[in-house]
Amino acid sequence: MKKAFSGVQPSGVLHLGNYFGAIRRFTEFQNEYDCYYCIVDLHAITVYQDPKELPGRIKDTALYYLASGLDPEKATLFVQSDVPCHAELSWLLECVSTFGELSRMTQFKDKSEGKESVSSGLFTYPVLMAADILLYDADVVPVGEDQKQHVELCRDVAERFNSRYGEAFKIPVPIIPEFGARIKSLQDPYKKMSKSDPNPLGYISLSDSKDEIAGKIRRAVTDSGREIVYSPEDKPAIANLITIYSLCTGKGFSEIEKHFEGRGYADFKKELADVIIQALVPIQERYKYYDDSEQLPEILKQGAEKANRVSSQVLKRAKEKMGLSLLADPTGRKLF
Ligand code: TYM
Repeated sequence: MKKAFSGVQPSGVLHLGNYFGAIRRFTEFQNEYDCYYCIVDLHAITVYQDPKELPGRIKDTALYYLASGLDPEKATLFVQSDVPCHAELSWLLECVSTFGELSRMTQFKDKSEGKESVSSGLFTYPVLMAADILLYDADVVPVGEDQKQHVELCRDVAERFNSRYGEAFKIPVPIIPEFGARIKSLQDPYKKMSKSDPNPLGYISLSDSKDEIAGKIRRAVTDSGREIVYSPEDKPAIANLITIYSLCTGKGFSEIEKHFEGRGYADFKKELADVIIQALVPIQERYKYYDDSEQLPEILKQGAEKANRVSSQVLKRAKEKMGLSLLADPTGRKLF
């Protein structure tokens, strides 16, 4: 069976972009791939996280994976900091990646822009991401558009390692959805919907109530004119809302345009809020079910055990290739 790996940061509320761009698709992969899905808390701490709040966010993220349909019998769900090989391989790969290529990462440029002090972890963040992926010999990496450049860096670093030290890593392929790979902010259709948006009107969180959803859609920005047509260049805000409508209902763009022909933005927004509510209510119910059932600690414990088993073999392979000591290796292989 081919393998899939992906991760989500527990750094804020999960929103519709995370769901349609990534998490919902994770559940589609679990029948065809051996899947590893990670709550990447080590990535989250590249910017300050309040230690009193982080455990709740880790739990919340894990519950949303399950609520979105992830089956722990089929896929391995775990927390990154429970698997030490991630941080260790990241260091080995930092020594193979270059300052220049990391400086070109657009996410780093965006997140560091205008900041007086930026952690070095934020700079090397994509290398840790490469370690995540390579440790599981992943064939595919389902992600939203914003992570494509990071997966490409992972491929470059893995290829460089393999050619310098000998074959240790499988080269993964990013899988980006055709639609929904970049859901935009409801307040600014030129910006992506983001967890770190200080204005909650910009995103719909997976936990938003019916009233909050209706209110946010009512106040979402629109374009000039009054027709409901999918035209990302001329009508970026409406195109974003049509994309969300399409993802919630499974209907194509022309079907949606036809459905709303002759009707105005207010009608469209009212129906859009309804279809979002219909999509989110079952997730919110399953979230509550998993929260009440208290299965999560055992699921994460078993996930971490399997992830540790699998990743330690790959880390060992990489260390061997580099000529590093394996004294800590449980198989007892000695370097000299
Ligand atoms: P994160 O936590 O920012 O986002 C999780 C996933 O959601 C996707 N996404 C979106 N998709 C569509 N529209 C949006 N507006 C939107 N916003 C976010 C992201 O592309 C992502 O797939 N670095 C990663 C986490 C990570 C990872 C990995 C991913 C760490 N290690 C290894 C894949 C493989 C991140 O910060 O995602």
